[in-house]
This record gives sequence, structure tokens and C-alpha cells, in this order.
Amino acid sequence: MNGLSFEKKLEFARKKTAEYNQEHLLQYFDLLDDNEKELLLDDILNIDFQFMCSLYKNANKEINAKNLDLKPAVGVPKSSMNQKELDEIYELGLAEISKGALCAVTMAGGQGSRLGHKGPKGTYDIGLPSHKSLFEIQCDGLKRISEKAKVAIPWYIMTSETNHEESVAFFEKNNYFGYPKKDIMFFKQSMIPVMDKQGRILLESPSKILKSPNGNGGLFSSLKDKSIFSDMRKRGIKWIFICGIDNVLVRMADPYFLGFTIKNKYKASAKSFLKRDASEKAGVFCYKDGRPYVIEYTEIPKELAELKDEKGDYVYGDTNVLNYIFDIDVAENIASAGLPYHTQIKAVTAYINGEYVESIKPDSYKFETFLFDSFNMLDDMGIFRIEREEEFAPVKNKTGIDSAESAREMYLAVYGAES
Ligand code: UTP
Repeated sequence: MNGLSFEKKLEFARKKTAEYNQEHLLQYFDLLDDNEKELLLDDILNIDFQFMCSLYKNANKEINAKNLDLKPAVGVPKSSMNQKELDEIYELGLAEISKGALCAVTMAGGQGSRLGHKGPKGTYDIGLPSHKSLFEIQCDGLKRISEKAKVAIPWYIMTSETNHEESVAFFEKNNYFGYPKKDIMFFKQSMIPVMDKQGRILLESPSKILKSPNGNGGLFSSLKDKSIFSDMRKRGIKWIFICGIDNVLVRMADPYFLGFTIKNKYKASAKSFLKRDASEKAGVFCYKDGRPYVIEYTEIPKELAELKDEKGDYVYGDTNVLNYIFDIDVAENIASAGLPYHTQIKAVTAYINGEYVESIKPDSYKFETFLFDSFNMLDDMGIFRIEREEEFAPVKNKTGIDSAESAREMYLAVYGAES
């Protein structure tokens, strides 16, 4: 569409928006300057309206979990291993890292809407004595393993249009926290339009469509589209360590995790911890139709959520903590297959009827893909069960559960007041 004349673009945009009842997108067109007009037309012509329509139609569909063929997937507790076994997987993992075969990927493209921090979540200071940001905390973790392995671990950071420039500028300003600049790479994930509950695509401003990042499941396709897999291969990477930005206790490039994966000949592994109670709001690992799967707390039948084994542990209890290791070949295969979109109802600020309107409560449809949906394409995967209080302290909310305050306390309990 880029080669089209202005008039042709306008004609197409008018036709498309009329066909899909989205004429309001051109409501302020005549008020825009020439540059804004071009930007809006390009934005509109890049929308796959038919696809957006199908997402809207599916937005309220309930998943009938009763008909799913589910089997438990039980994690291997790290705490059940003796010192010899632990040493063995650690050495195995560290040796592979020393060969330069592991890279780390941080998914930092989210909007952190619940936290409400102005700026990328990675720049957030949880109030440690050192006032380290979430980015610096992860960088410190990588430095620790890099020193042990005597090799700098390449670090890829996924951002999105909403926070890319600010994230890169933050690293620049902080001199990359002393990490080799050539080993930190940023790439943007894709964005997708946001809709209201009537199925109207929203505007961010008179000249711009409101879009949100396409979920953490956008990772593999972005690694492919942005030629990151090729960069990894040039560097001799075989394993990809993946985590989110907001768990302050994440063990970056964990040699135990990698060693566990290699020793058991898995091509992909996930970390888990045991859920606290049957109704905990988190997805758990299981097998669906004989393949690995994460079933959401909203989907799992109550009797399975409550089922316990003879030791009293939940059978469907291994909680997904957004920390994975993938063999690069497997990740690249998955990248070519699309992942399904899930609807999230979120509060947004949109330009409606000539003014900027901020939702008072979540009322708009954002569409996200989840990385864990790719697990069902694997024959099997490892589940490495860790202790929650040692490795999991997420920063999601302003206050209360999973807030900066709770994460800070847990971080200080593990790393001490010097941190
Ligand atoms: P969350 O799903 O908790 O989203 O992301 P969030 O953006 O941090 O916060 P809310 O829901 O808007 O309050 C879990 C991890 O996945 C990343 C986030 O940056 C975080 O590290 N993520 C999420 C992405 O990289 N891209 C996305 O599109 C969504």
C-alpha cells in the first residue's frame, strides 16, 4: 500500500472503514495536517479488519473445559534433589553457558497498566536501599552468571512501540549498567488495535489508532520477524532463557534450570511452584490431548483444581511462573505457527467524540497472545519446580499483593539489606 497515491489511500481507507462499520476512524480526518493525514491512512490500511472482526466475535466465547482431555503434569521439585544431583545439573548448565550456548530474553513489552508507573516497567524502582530498577536487578543477575561462566551472556530485550525509545534511553543513560553494550539487543514486538465493547476500533488521538502490544506470545514471531534468531545463530546460541521483566527474584540464566533441561533431554522447560490453594488465580501445567498445556484458573474444572495426591499436594498444582528455556530450533519452528488471541478487558485512554476519555473501570478489549499456548505444539517439556519464596516476587500492582512493597520484602529476605 506504501506506493499508493494519497487519493488512492483515502479511497481504500473510506471503503474499508465503511465495509466494517469503522467510519468513525476518519471522523477527524479533515481537521488533520497533511502529515497526520498520511499517518492515519497508513495506520488504517495496515489493519486487517476481517481479522479484528473475528477477534471481536470470539471475545466473549466461553471455553468449555468439561470436554477437554486433561492429564496432570507434575513438576520435578528442585528440593527433592540431593547435593550430588544438584551439583551435577549446575555443572552441566554452567559448562553449556561457558561455551556461549545460552542467551537471555526479557519480555518487557507490556504496558504495566496495573502498576501505573509512568515509563517502561523495567525502569521502575521498587525502593531497595540501592534504588536499583527492575532492568538493573536483571542485569546484576546476568553479570553474576557471566562472571562464573567467564563469558558475557547475550541479552535480548523485547519492547513495544509504547516503551521502546524510553527503555533504550534508560540503558544509555545508565551506561548499560556496566554490561557490554554489544551484548544487549532490543527489539520491538507487534501491536494490535484496541476495541470498545461494541466492536469499534478506538483512536488514541485524532490521527492515530489506539493499539496495544500483542501479548507475551508475540515473542517468537518477533524473534523471527526482527531477525533475532539469525543474530542468535551467528553468536552460536543453542538455548534461549526467557523471562518477564517484573519478577525481582528471577534467577537469570539459571545454570540449574539449563542443566535440568539438558540432563533430561528436554527441548523446552518451564519453572513452576506449587499453588497455595485450589482457587489461586494462576494457570497450572497439565497435558491436553497428550501434549503440554497451561490451563487457566478460569478454565479448570473445580474437581481437578481441588484434587490432591496421597502426600496432600495439588495434582494440578504446578503453577506457570513465566520462566522458560527453549532450544532455538524448537522456538524457531513455533514462530512460524500463529498463536490464538485471548481477550483482556482493560482500562484505556481513548479519543472519543472530540475528547480524551480515560476509562473509570476496565471497559475495552485488548487482544493478547500467550507464550504458553505454544506448549501444546511440543511433544513434551520439562517442569522444574522451585520454591516460590526463593524465586518469585512479581511487581504487578501499585499496592497490596504482588506490589513493589511485597516484592521488596521478598527480595531483601533473599539477598539481604546490602542489595
Ligand atoms: P503482564 O501480563 O503481567 O502485563 O506481563 P504487564 O504489561 O506487565 O501489566 P498489566 O497487565 O498491563 O498490568 C507479564 C510479562 O510479559 C510482558 C510484560 O512486560 C511482563 O514482563 N509482556 C506482556 C510483554 O512483553 N508483551 C506484552 O504484550 C504483554
